[in-house]
Amino acid sequence: MTDTSGELALATRRALLAKLGVAGVSALVAGPSLVAMVSAPDRVAPLEAALGPVERFTRGSLTRVTVVATRADAWLMRRDEAVGAVWVVRDAAGDFTVLSTICPHLGCGTVSTSDGFVCPCHDSHFSRTGARDSAKAGPAPRDLDPLPHRVAEGTLHCTWVRFKPGRADRVREVG
Ligand code: FES
Repeated sequence: MTDTSGELALATRRALLAKLGVAGVSALVAGPSLVAMVSAPDRVAPLEAALGPVERFTRGSLTRVTVVATRADAWLMRRDEAVGAVWVVRDAAGDFTVLSTICPHLGCGTVSTSDGFVCPCHDSHFSRTGARDSAKAGPAPRDLDPLPHRVAEGTLHCTWVRFKPGRADRVREVG
């Protein structure tokens, strides 16, 4: 008499192992893309944002503007979210400079003064162009971060980028 139950168990075990083998290979192939999707860096930088109509910024003015943009990551789309703030400096000739308000020392928010900006955390001073004040530079390792900007159809736009604090060079933050 033949032991069919033993053969059946062996066949079932082989089929199961074969399936596990296929699943394992699939996981190996899909794994990196799944990990990349789950851990995909938030596409927060760079972001394009409108800062306002050009006439909002009079010549010789210095204006703090909250940057509002749409952010998307692998899971969510967040529309019209405040992602940061910039200083919009318009000189007497009408030319613009757009600076991040983030202090490049440890990331505190800068405030405006009569002749530029100061970081209240450790007293770093910057001119209206964002350059460190040679007499009162404080611990800031670089000037305020200038941001790309352009005027299109009467509106000032900028590209919002965060840079890592605490270093002399500019390295973009991701996420
Ligand atoms: S965080 Fe601005 S000077 Fe330290």
